[in-house]
Amino acid sequence: MTADEQKRISGEAAAELVEAGMVVGLGTGSTAAHFVRALAARGLAIRAVPTSEATANLARELDIPLVGLDDVKFIDLTVDGADEIGPGLSLIKGGGAALLREKLVWEASRRCVVIADAAKQVKALGRFPLPIEVVRFGHPHTGRRLADIAAEFDLPPPRLRMAERGIVVTDGGNVIYDLASGKISDPAALAGALKSVTGVVDHGLFLDLADLALIGTDGGVVNLTP
Ligand code: 5RP
Repeated sequence: MTADEQKRISGEAAAELVEAGMVVGLGTGSTAAHFVRALAARGLAIRAVPTSEATANLARELDIPLVGLDDVKFIDLTVDGADEIGPGLSLIKGGGAALLREKLVWEASRRCVVIADAAKQVKALGRFPLPIEVVRFGHPHTGRRLADIAAEFDLPPPRLRMAERGIVVTDGGNVIYDLASGKISDPAALAGALKSVTGVVDHGLFLDLADLALIGTDGGVVNLTP
């Protein structure tokens, strides 16, 4: 099975968890897109809260009714991908630069399910560079403060995310610094330190948020709980 096929079966399994009448959080990325397509195919009467403009566009194409996060008191179920799934369903997210809206939607959700291909599961977080979302105003200064924090954790300085057309700007108008670490030995301590920096909006460590992981493997979908 290719990684994309593994993503597809995990997305399809997650779509089976959705019931009519639910408010559903729609994640961002290629795995979440499989979920959104499988959800649309079920034709249930639901309302959905997208975590990015890209996902909102896909949902509109598929005639999934959308509502804003402001329009609902809570979300019944959010399904989203991840860049890494570590011990206790600790996650790194934000490879698609949608981490801020994703985390807001996850935190407003009663249940959060992460979907992924098998390669995303790791023994320790950190192989995937940790995205940190930073307000644009004065971001080189914030970047230097982040480098100081990284040094305290024996990590190299984070790097501003660039694309072919220049600096990557998120849906929220912010920039992303990626912290390539190799291994994050204390994710909770790093999360706290990063959040303490003025100018940091949020980071891609999703700790104690996922209730279930559905991992696509060559042998089928494997369920993991924290
Ligand atoms: C976007 C994310 C994605 O969920 C993450 O990057 C995984 O993407 P994919 O499903 O394409 O592998 O966090 O901000």
